[in-house]
Amino acid sequence: MSGARIDAIAIDGPASSGKSTLAREVARRLGFVFLDTGSLYRAVALAFLSAGVSRFVEEDPSVARILSSLDIAVTPGPTGARISLGGLDVTDQLRTEEVGALASRISAWPKVRMALFELQRRLALAGRIVMDGRDIGTVILPEARLKIFLVADPETRARRRQKDLESQGDSRPLETVLADILERDRRDRERPVSPLIQAPDALLLDTTRLSIDEAVTWIVDRYR
Ligand code: DC
Repeated sequence: MSGARIDAIAIDGPASSGKSTLAREVARRLGFVFLDTGSLYRAVALAFLSAGVSRFVEEDPSVARILSSLDIAVTPGPTGARISLGGLDVTDQLRTEEVGALASRISAWPKVRMALFELQRRLALAGRIVMDGRDIGTVILPEARLKIFLVADPETRARRRQKDLESQGDSRPLETVLADILERDRRDRERPVSPLIQAPDALLLDTTRLSIDEAVTWIVDRYR
């Protein structure tokens, strides 16, 4: 791809491939800010839940109403961004399973993706940022100086996710977590708008057998 490159790193990949953990540490080593864009889709899901929208279909008029008055603010920082909704900091409410499950569904809706595009694009163009998500290298910041597409085998991702949930006091059988991950993969890859795909100029990194430190060093070395 030609054109001006932006001093930024795009990290895309499926659920629990290690994106945010690696993006945060890469940003720390480079002195960049870090933004996990999944938190924006989660904030929209929280806005829907808080508004008590009961029928979650894209065509619902209340969906359009909530999206048109959406007031999401992002304050990026080195260890992650604080996200506020309608002036209230909701960062600590975004990681629940309820919010995650709804975020997975609504992120397939073009209206939702459009509502978040400008915000992400503005933050990306400011540069010196590591952004992780599903479509950063393909749609949000195709000009990123470095693009990484992370993969890891589904069972490894399920084990990581299970450990994560356990640390939040939520213990679930591995098969349940794995089935959920496979379903989210399917939705991310099969949605018609901004599906999860590797950008042609993205480097593939399989984290199945890598430690966090090995993966971070690999990314930072490529950037430098
Ligand atoms: O990475 P995560 O699980 O926090 O993301 C929440 C949901 O948002 C996930 O189901 C996929 C979606 N998402 C997306 O469609 N595009 C992005 N750039 C980031 C997340």
